[in-house]
Amino acid sequence: MNAVELHRKLENNAGLLIFGILFVSAIGGLVQVLPSVFQDALVAPSENVEPYSALQLAGRDIYIRESCGNCHSQQVRPLLAEVQRYGPYSRAGESAYDRPFLWGSKRTGPDLHRVGGKFSDAWQRLHLIDPRTVVPDSIMPGYPWLAETPVDAPDVQRKMRVLRRLGHPYTDEQIAAAAATLAEQMEVDAVVAYLQALRAKP
Ligand code: HEC
Repeated sequence: MNAVELHRKLENNAGLLIFGILFVSAIGGLVQVLPSVFQDALVAPSENVEPYSALQLAGRDIYIRESCGNCHSQQVRPLLAEVQRYGPYSRAGESAYDRPFLWGSKRTGPDLHRVGGKFSDAWQRLHLIDPRTVVPDSIMPGYPWLAETPVDAPDVQRKMRVLRRLGHPYTDEQIAAAAATLAEQMEVDAVVAYLQALRAKP
């Protein structure tokens, strides 16, 4: 059978065509996916990357709950313009303790992967409660309830236990101590702590 006949056969037989498409895309998928499973640099935490503290972890969950990721990515691409604007490009090992990943691609607002240390805690707090107080023409919504809602400590402790099962090296002491660290903290404190932790770890 020559190539033309084979092609005709494929085009006239939907089942065969579907199988052919799946077969070809599976090769493409494997070539991309398999190396990332086995390549140490992509799955092992980079040096200096530590699991999030209890407060940062609480803030990360609130970030997810409030859908901040709908407007903000956390992935500096290896392009000159991005590196000049945001700082060192993002590396896979930096996300070893990010479950789920928040890389994203939607940038209504700026990328936040290197925002830690760019503003003071006080600025971040004002900005979260009402962005217009510090950035007059901001279109970001305000999140005033974060300053009125206490952090749910038992929930964070449960999450730390689950993450430990998935390989995050939290100790019993750290999980127990979380109750005291989180007492009296408001959700806004947690989000600020999380944002300040988003910085390059050389
Ligand atoms: C509707 C889109 C939108 C949502 C949702 C949103 N933001 Fe923003 N964000 C923006 C825009 C636009 C800016 C740029 C103007 C400004 O600084 O306020 C911004 C700026 C920021 C900045 C300053 C970044 C910089 O480098 O100047 C931080 C930090 C930030 N947002 C955090 C958050 C957090 C945390 C949440 C969720 C609680 C959130 N944003 C939700 C649109 C959004």
